Amino acid sequence: MKADDIKNEKLKAWVTETASMCQPDRIEVCDGSQEEYDRLSARMVESGTYLKLNEDKRPGSYLCRSDPDDVARVEDRTFICSKNEGEAGPTNNWRDPDEMKEVLKGLFAGSMKGRTMYVIPFCMGPLGSEISHIGIEITDSPYVVCNMRIMTRMGKAVLDELADGDFIPCLHSVGAPLAESQKDVPWPCNPDNKYIVHFPDERAIWSFGSGYGGNALLGKKCFALRIASVMARDQGWLAEHMLIMGLTSPEGEKKYIAAAFPSACGKTNLAMLIPSMPGWKVECVGDDIAWMKFGDDGRLYAINPEAGFFGVAPGTSMASNENAIHSLKKNSIFTNVALTPDGDVWWEEMTDDEPEKLTSWINEEWTPGCGKKASHPNARFTAPLSQCPIADASWDDPKGVPIAAFLFGGRRSSVVPLVNEAFNWQHGVFLGATMASEKTAAAAGKVGELRRDPFAMLPFCGYNMADYFSHWLKTGEKDGADLPKIFYVNWFRKDDQGKFLWPGYGENSRVLKWIFERVSEKGEAVETPIGYLPKEGAIDVSGMGISEEEMTEILKVDPDQWKAELQGIRDHFKRFADRLPQEMWDELKALEERLG
Ligand code: OXD
Ligand code: MN
Repeated sequence: MKADDIKNEKLKAWVTETASMCQPDRIEVCDGSQEEYDRLSARMVESGTYLKLNEDKRPGSYLCRSDPDDVARVEDRTFICSKNEGEAGPTNNWRDPDEMKEVLKGLFAGSMKGRTMYVIPFCMGPLGSEISHIGIEITDSPYVVCNMRIMTRMGKAVLDELADGDFIPCLHSVGAPLAESQKDVPWPCNPDNKYIVHFPDERAIWSFGSGYGGNALLGKKCFALRIASVMARDQGWLAEHMLIMGLTSPEGEKKYIAAAFPSACGKTNLAMLIPSMPGWKVECVGDDIAWMKFGDDGRLYAINPEAGFFGVAPGTSMASNENAIHSLKKNSIFTNVALTPDGDVWWEEMTDDEPEKLTSWINEEWTPGCGKKASHPNARFTAPLSQCPIADASWDDPKGVPIAAFLFGGRRSSVVPLVNEAFNWQHGVFLGATMASEKTAAAAGKVGELRRDPFAMLPFCGYNMADYFSHWLKTGEKDGADLPKIFYVNWFRKDDQGKFLWPGYGENSRVLKWIFERVSEKGEAVETPIGYLPKEGAIDVSGMGISEEEMTEILKVDPDQWKAELQGIRDHFKRFADRLPQEMWDELKALEERLG
C-alpha cells in the first residue's frame, strides 16, 4: 500500500510530516499480508539481516543476529517526559518534554536516508474490542515490521477499523542513515544515541537508535504498558504486566487468573503450565501483558493486547515449557540464538546434551566447553500465540475473560511462604506495592540483593508509581465491583542448604488448585499476621512425596523474619514522600501490629 491510500487525516498529516523530517528514500504502508511478510523476510535474507532456517526442521522461520551492543531493553535510556517531574515520579527517568522533543527532532532529522519508511497500523487487542486500542508505528526497520506482524494484529484490517478515529503515534528509527551507495550492515543501530521516549500527556512514543525488542517493537512495553498505564489511570481501567491463564478443574469449572512477576521469575512458564494434578487444565490467554476493564456484571474482563510471544529462549526446553517449544516449531523469528550445522536453532538448556558444534549468536564457531555462551542470555523467539497448543479458546475474544484472582510474586529464597492470600483489596494493593525479588547472578548488582518491583511495573509504569497505587485503591472502590481475590506466591524458597523447598513447574498447579478453591469459597485457610495461609493439609500434595515437615517449612511465617522486612518497606515507601497514599502507611502499621 502507498501513503496515498491513507484516508485518516491525522495519519496522513503525521506520515507527511515524519517523512519530511526523516527523509526516507521511499514509504510503504504495511497491509499485514503473508505476501508482504515473505517479501520483507526475503529482502532481509538478501541483506544479511536474516538467515533462513532449514525448511524441514523449522518451516517459515528465520534467525537474526543483532549487533552485540544492541541486545536488550535499555532502562537507563528510557524516559518519561510528563509536563513536570513529579508526574513521572522517583522510579522513572524524567526529562522536560519540550527540551527532549528538540533533542529528538535533531536526531530524527534525515535519520531514514537511504532506507524505507514503513507505516505499520496495529491493534493492541482483538479487533472490535472495547478494551483494544490502535497504534501506528513508523519505522525504518523491516525486522520490526515482521515482528510486529506476529506480536500484534497488524495491517489493512486495522486501517479499516481506524477509519477517522484516533491512534497512538509510535515513531521509531534505528538511527543509521545511509549515505549514497553506502553498504548497509546486517543490524543497523546507533551505538552513541539511544532514546526510548514517552510523552504521556500527548500520548506519543519516540524511539531512536535501537532495533531490539521492547526498544523497537513499540506496541509492547512502550505502548501497552507505559502509555496505556496513563490512559488506564485517566479512563478507569488497568494496564498490567501480567500473564492471563484459564484454569479448569476436573469437574469442568473454569476460572481465569492474571499474574504479575518481575522478569526472570517464570511468567511464560506459568502461563503455559502443564499441571501435575490429574484432571486440571491450564490454557493460555497471554504471557506478558493484560488490559482489564469492568464489565456490566462488575467483574474485571481482561484481554491480552498482544498476539504473539516474545519470549526468552535460553532455559526454554521440553522439560521447562513444552508448550512454548511447540509454539515456536514454525513461522517464528529467532534473535541471537545459536545455529546448528543442519540449519536449525539451539540455546542453552534447550536439550540435555549440548550439540557437538554450533555457530554462536556472534557468528563464531562454538563447541561444548569453549567457555562462551552459544546464545545470548536475552536471546528471543517471536512466535504466534495461535500456535500455542494450549491457546485458550477465548484468547482472541473481544469481550475478554473475567478475572477471578490476581497473583503477585517474586523470587525470594527466604521469609516469604509458598502462598498467602490478602485479607482484602487494600491489603492486596499493599502486597503488590511491596513486591520484591532477588537479583539473579545474570543481573548487575549483588546476587540475592532485594529489588522492590511494585506490581512488576517498576520499568513499565508511565507515571508516578505512588499515583499508580492510588489508582489501584480507587479501582477497588468502584460501585458494584466484583473484585478478584489477591494472592502472593513464592516458588523459590530455599532450605538452610540452599536447596529449593518446592519443585515448581507443573507442581505449582497444587497451589493454583488451592487458589481456585479459595475463590470458590471452598479452600481452607488460617489467619496469620501476613494474610490467609492454607490450613494444614489444604494444599493437595497427594503423590508428590513431600513430607509434612517440608510443607510446614515452605508455609512458615516467622514473625521475627517479617519484622526485619519492615524497615525495607518503610524505606521503599519513603521514596514516594507525600504522594504515597495514606492507606499504604496504614497497612504497614497494621502489619507491624499483627506481628506483635
Ligand atoms: C519482557 C520483560 O521482555 O519483562 O517481557 O523484560
Ligand atoms: Mn515482561
